Order: sequence, then C-alpha cells, then structure tokens
Amino acid sequence: MNARNLRPSLMRTLSTLPGIDALWPLCLDIVRHRRGLRPRPLPDATRHFAWHPTRGFVLHEDAWDEEAIELFALLKPVLDRPPEGAAWVIGQLGQSLDGCIATRGGDSNFVNGPEALVHLHRLRALCDAVIVGAGTATIDNPQLTTRRVAGEHPVRVLIDPSLRVVPTLRALSDRQAPTLLVCDATRAAEAAQRVGAEQVLGLPGLMSNAGGPPNLRVLLPALQQRGLRVLFVEGGGITVSRFIAQGCMDRLHLSVAPVLIGSGRPGLALPGSAAMRDCPRPPARVFRMGADVLWDLDLQPAR
Ligand SMILES: NC(=O)c1ccc[n+]([C@@H]2O[C@H](COP(=O)([O-])OP(=O)(O)OC[C@H]3O[C@@H](n4cnc5c(N)ncnc54)[C@H](OP(=O)(O)O)[C@@H]3O)[C@@H](O)[C@H]2O)c1
Repeated sequence: MNARNLRPSLMRTLSTLPGIDALWPLCLDIVRHRRGLRPRPLPDATRHFAWHPTRGFVLHEDAWDEEAIELFALLKPVLDRPPEGAAWVIGQLGQSLDGCIATRGGDSNFVNGPEALVHLHRLRALCDAVIVGAGTATIDNPQLTTRRVAGEHPVRVLIDPSLRVVPTLRALSDRQAPTLLVCDATRAAEAAQRVGAEQVLGLPGLMSNAGGPPNLRVLLPALQQRGLRVLFVEGGGITVSRFIAQGCMDRLHLSVAPVLIGSGRPGLALPGSAAMRDCPRPPARVFRMGADVLWDLDLQPAR
C-alpha cells in the first residue's frame, strides 16, 4: 500500500510537464466516450494514455507531472467503467478522526479541507448520478452540481421513502439538473403531487410491509434503465452504510480529517461481526489530500 500525496511538491512546482489542468479535460472526454457522446478513438489518446483490455486506461507517466499521475490513479476506477454493463457504485464520506460526519445538530460545513470539496465535485462530474439520503437533502439542502470544476452536472437522486423532504429544496426546485425523488411505488402519486411527476421515481418493492430500510437492490436496475450506471453516493452515513450492508457499493472514498467532533452524527454504521477475523479488510489505497487522508476502499470482493 503506497501513501500518495496530492499536494504540489517542490518537484512538481518546478516541473514543466502538464498537470491536473491538462488532465481534467481528458478525464471528461473519457466520460463523454463512456456515455456514447464521443466516438473512438479519444483525441490524442496515444500521446496521453492508452486503453488496455484488462488494465483499463493507462497513463503515459513520463508525459505528466506527479500531481496529475496521482489524480489519475485515484480516479482510474471510475474512468475505467465500460460503456455498458451493470450499475457501478462509488460512495464517499468525509469524517473526523473519531468517526463522525457532522456535529450532533447536523453541521458538516466543513469536516474536510478544500481539496476534498473539489474532489467531491470531480466525482459528481465523472458519475451519471449523485445520490443522497433524505437526512442530507433536508439538513444540507445541497445543489449537488459540479460548480467547482468543469463538467456536466449529474442527475440528482434523493432517496426519500417516507416523503420527508420539502419541495422547496434546491435540488427539487432550481432546475440546474434533473432530479429524481425515490420512493416506493405505493407513494409515487403522493410524491408527484408534491414535487411533480417528472421528478418522482416510484419503485415497486423499495419498502417492505415489515418496515426496515429501503431495498436498494431495486434502485440500481431502475437507474440503469434510465442510462444512469455510474453512481455516486455522497452521503450521509446512514445511506452509505445501507448501500454497503446490502452489497450495493463497489468502492468507497473515506476522507479522514484531523478534527475531533465528539458525539456527532456517525459515519459508517455496519452490522459488525463477533470475531475480529470475520471483519472485512477491503483492499485499500491511501492518498493525501491537503491535511486529510483519503482511503480508497475496494468493496467489490465483499459484494
Ligand atoms: N461529511 C460528509 O461526507 C457528509 C456527507 C453527506 C452528509 N453529511 C451530513 O450527514 C448528515 C445526514 O446524514 P444521515 O446519516 O443522518 O442521513 P442520510 O443518510 O442523509 O439520510 C438517510 C436518513 O435520513 C433520515 N433523517 C435523519 N434526519 C433527518 C431529517 N432531519 N430530515 C429528514 N430525514 C432525516 C431518514 O429517515 P427515514 O428513513 O425515516 O425517512 C433516513 O433514514 C447531515 O448532518 C449532513 O450534513 C455529511
């Protein structure tokens, strides 16, 4: 496991090789290609990177500065998504050293540093849809756009089986990007009355009569049918934990900030095991992101 550093070093500052500013438009080209909006081959592909049938996109490292190489390594699992196939899910949580993602009252502005915020917007731009739970939608009232980076806004998906969110939320009213409010099919008519039918995705079987959490396994194929296959679950802790517990998450970016929140809102809350030997240890990579440390966890073996 290598510790990687996304902060410019003296070496990078002195480098004349192209960096992140030159790399990012190429990342967006890869995404347009995945969505069928750009034909093969990608422009300048041979100069910048190669496509390898088993290794995916491989950057020509001698042509880039160190910062660009690190960013490409971090984003490669998203960039390598094929143009077709099943839905693929990446999640994120920004947490304190003591495992909280917000204060008790719900304030999460900001757990992590500015680099992590840019990273969030990059993930939004590379994914087809960004998903948040009702708690995050209500407390943060997020726009879920890509305003800190170049790139298209993703479709915004709010998981709200109990129809808790109010129609005046920015994601439901600002028209900056399409938004889908996800609820059980039995409540779709009620949801349509509140936010408009075009913004409602009512799913049969999302909620069981016995109560309990939403069945996220019915959400993924429904989004896939709408052409939304690369999915970014941005929070909060309950929602990310449900995706993992139901085997619906492929990758997790866990950004740990050097801050102590105390008795705040928890990040991951998973069922757990009695014996330490049964606790999952997913393959992990570590990246430095300003003062924070980003853990990139590969959850696919557990799925
Ligand atoms: N640091 C980060 O990376 C990060 C990222 C996103 C969000 N956040 C913070 O995380 C917190 C929200 O996360 P979370 O884990 O509590 O929930 P969440 O995963 O966003 O949403 C899922 C749950 O929210 C419940 N919920 C809790 N409080 C609610 C409220 N005030 N209004 C409506 N629904 C509410 C819903 O209940 P029902 O199932 O009963 O409907 C649902 O179970 C916020 O404070 C937000 O600022 C932090």
